[in-house]
Amino acid sequence: MKVEGKHYRSIWFDKISDEVKIIDQRSLPHRFEIISLESLEEFEVAIKDMAVRGAPLIGATAAYGIARQMQRDSSDESLSSTYNCLNNTRPTAINLKWALDRCKKELWGTSVKDRPKAAMNLAEIICNEDVEINRKIGEFGLEIIKSLSKNKPKGEPVRLLTHCNAGWLATVDWGTATSPMYQAHQQSIPIHVWVDETRPRNQGALTSWELKNQGISHNYITDNAGGHLMQRGLVDMVIVGTDRTTSKGDVCNKIGTYLKALAAKDNDVPFYVALPSPTIDWTVENGVDEIPIEERNEKEVSTIQGKDETGEISWVKVTPEGSLGSNPAFDVTPSRLVTGLITEMGVCEASESGLRKLFPLSERS
Ligand code: MRU
Repeated sequence: MKVEGKHYRSIWFDKISDEVKIIDQRSLPHRFEIISLESLEEFEVAIKDMAVRGAPLIGATAAYGIARQMQRDSSDESLSSTYNCLNNTRPTAINLKWALDRCKKELWGTSVKDRPKAAMNLAEIICNEDVEINRKIGEFGLEIIKSLSKNKPKGEPVRLLTHCNAGWLATVDWGTATSPMYQAHQQSIPIHVWVDETRPRNQGALTSWELKNQGISHNYITDNAGGHLMQRGLVDMVIVGTDRTTSKGDVCNKIGTYLKALAAKDNDVPFYVALPSPTIDWTVENGVDEIPIEERNEKEVSTIQGKDETGEISWVKVTPEGSLGSNPAFDVTPSRLVTGLITEMGVCEASESGLRKLFPLSERS
């Protein structure tokens, strides 16, 4: 998407400088900084520290991490140890393992001599596929927005609520939950977005930055405001992303998503999940019991990041000395609370039969 008139992806290989480049999301929304990733350790830290984040982008970054490492050492041992190193960075989003498994499988069947080139090609393919998947999710989600818009007085916006950042920053481009928003905006369908702040890392500020850049009407709200807005009839649709969706349609996403789904159910507000197929974990059925939930550093809760009046970005403490935070980063929304899954193949019910109709051949691995 565009930043100050120039089109960017969230990750790309710069052929001129021969570097993999990313937008450092630790500095956003206050500073737009591009950094390059070179060593395996730099890729590892970028994912762990959330310089890159969001399930699809983590997968794409891992694919580039493998590619760069194969250019230094393309042996079988190096392929295995690079896979293990990157696979241990973040536990919940399945796209990481999906991308690593795909790279390992394809490169294992490639000679050591051809591996560096094959690995780089594959990383590019994974990125390009991600862009196309998200564009299609946008097309299908747009139809839902259009049908909500038809029932409104002319000019009244469709009011969407979203949680976390499932935007283009979290993918390679378009975003998942934001893709229908961008496509609606491009077609001049009026929308307004309620953006949950999404403590503790405030990824809602990233979503606000994205929406502001595209000129989309939005308000940044506290995490606890959504239920109230739904009771007042001010939300027409909730749309969120997902870090892992089970074969039965349970959705694991940023902490707090489950509470939004409960409030949506109680208020008859449709609750949709934008789901790229690499985020489906066909090996898992029951999300609550089977998906590992990342526990992040308590400092993310007991402190908060912001920009002060001198322009400095810093973390300030919000809790008294001696009170420790607790920081589960994701939760699971059971399929019964999900109105529909918006995938690149169409919209389906959040159930095994719904998913199988769209993805009949996908395997458990
Ligand atoms: O911890 P993060 O910022 O990586 O979590 C991201 C989310 O939870 C997103 O909503 C999810 O990855 C879907 S993004 C397309």
